[in-house]
Amino acid sequence: MTGRAPRRPVVAIDGPAGAGKTTVTRRVAAALGYVLVGTGALYRAVALAAERAGIPWTDAAAVGRLAATIAERGAIEFGARPEGGERVLLEGEDVSAELRRERIGEGASVVSAVPAVREALLDLQRSAGRGGGVVLEGRDIGTVVFPDAEAKIFLTASDAVRARRRWQELAERGQAPPLEAVLRDVVERDRRDSTRPVAPLRQAPDALLVDSSELSVDEVVARIVEHVRGVERRSRGEP
Ligand code: DC
Repeated sequence: MTGRAPRRPVVAIDGPAGAGKTTVTRRVAAALGYVLVGTGALYRAVALAAERAGIPWTDAAAVGRLAATIAERGAIEFGARPEGGERVLLEGEDVSAELRRERIGEGASVVSAVPAVREALLDLQRSAGRGGGVVLEGRDIGTVVFPDAEAKIFLTASDAVRARRRWQELAERGQAPPLEAVLRDVVERDRRDSTRPVAPLRQAPDALLVDSSELSVDEVVARIVEHVRGVERRSRGEP
């Protein structure tokens, strides 16, 4: 053997809510032996911290200051659970379950449109991915956070399929809002995420588009893993 092994890729997986990103990225990271960073958790943590501090999500100036303070103090930490899955700590407290609340997802979508919030969370995301061998999942990873990521995937699905999946998730948690209401929420969240002036949700020109509407989770995972393996081979100079 001569020389050092090449750096492993940064894998950027972006896409709208309900495309299956959480399930898929967890399995992709496990199959590749990469670290997983779900960046939505950062925006969710800011929304939760605001709620706890009594700051309305729509108060852009106050939410921006809060995010900057949180980032400076290193108040958000990622960890892994021994039984698998991610753990997120806010001020040392495990808030993983709270962050998954539907309302906190809404709040995350609102605070993530504030430029100062995005700015505050940028370095955190970049340092998490810097070493390579990482899957980062979000909305703007391939366009803003890691525009030079070696592997980029844009994972999407039709509105109807995404709404049905979301509805199923809620039903499993014992909530059963009408499907039409879930579809309205999905479309509204996408509209907000894609039309904000800073770092809107969009496919990077060099991203592989994967539409999961008619694919099983296994098929989606296999397609992405194969793509990353190809990038790894090429970085080693293999065909
Ligand atoms: O993926 P998620 O549902 O945990 O994300 C919650 C919200 O956070 C989403 O509506 C938009 C925002 N977000 C973002 O703007 N940029 C990211 N990289 C990740 C999430």
